[in-house]
Amino acid sequence: MVDTPQVLGNGLLSDAAIRANIAGLDASGLRIEVAEALDSTNAALKRRAHSEDIHGLALFAETQTAGRGRLGRLWVSPPKSNIYLSLGWRMGLEPADLAGLSLALGCAIGEGLDREFGLNMQLKWPNDLYLAGKKCGGVLIDLVQSANQDWVVIVGVGLNVAMSKLGSDEIDQPWTDLSTHSTVKVSRHEVGARILEAVVPLLSSWQVGSFGQWRDSWSRRDLMAGRQISVQQGGHAIAGRADGVDFSGALRVVTNEGLTVVQSGEASMLRGETL
Ligand code: BTN
Repeated sequence: MVDTPQVLGNGLLSDAAIRANIAGLDASGLRIEVAEALDSTNAALKRRAHSEDIHGLALFAETQTAGRGRLGRLWVSPPKSNIYLSLGWRMGLEPADLAGLSLALGCAIGEGLDREFGLNMQLKWPNDLYLAGKKCGGVLIDLVQSANQDWVVIVGVGLNVAMSKLGSDEIDQPWTDLSTHSTVKVSRHEVGARILEAVVPLLSSWQVGSFGQWRDSWSRRDLMAGRQISVQQGGHAIAGRADGVDFSGALRVVTNEGLTVVQSGEASMLRGETL
């Protein structure tokens, strides 16, 4: 059980309680479902996309038995402590038009949660959420094609709200949670609502090149900016100074040979550069 006094109303998540906390967003077109346990909310939506329209379906789980992070990693998902959410959205665009979407989602979620909970969320390229130099969440995007060949994104958001000691033993990197840093009490219903308020308008208004509007927001939250980093790309590593992102969300790295732009990979800060 979660024992932090900062967490309020830590009852089970429900459609009604999350919906009751949504403000400034017409949520009537959203379906909100809460599962007690799933392997992974992203995987569950992917499966359901074969037989139903998952557009506007927000699937929360109280726990995940095989939660997935980027690059096939495990996402530690103990029960009743955190947010594990996947939202299906038909974009009406091709995958190539979605450049920067996952970074923009991180910005929007960071802005929404900062405002509500008095946080100062930072982002580590491409889609890790950080508080006080430690990871507290992440975004994982999957793409599926519906029966009529439309591309549907599955936006997976994992956010540590009040991580239990049991769960934390399994995490292999410095981590933190929202309730440790919030200036106000945190309920998971509110957190779920704030995430939907951030994510739904962004998805419904996304167009080719939309990341350009989020680039300043990214720069303000950029955990690695100006630091010495290494980016692992397949078999080789690129080392240099992180220099923000370009208009498509690609990472700019200043190496000894000059500026390199990295579309995908795993970035880490070099020794002496961790916070
Ligand atoms: C990362 O930082 O590696 C991304 C983590 C994303 C985790 C979330 S939890 C809800 C959704 N279901 C999953 O299996 N993964 C995402």
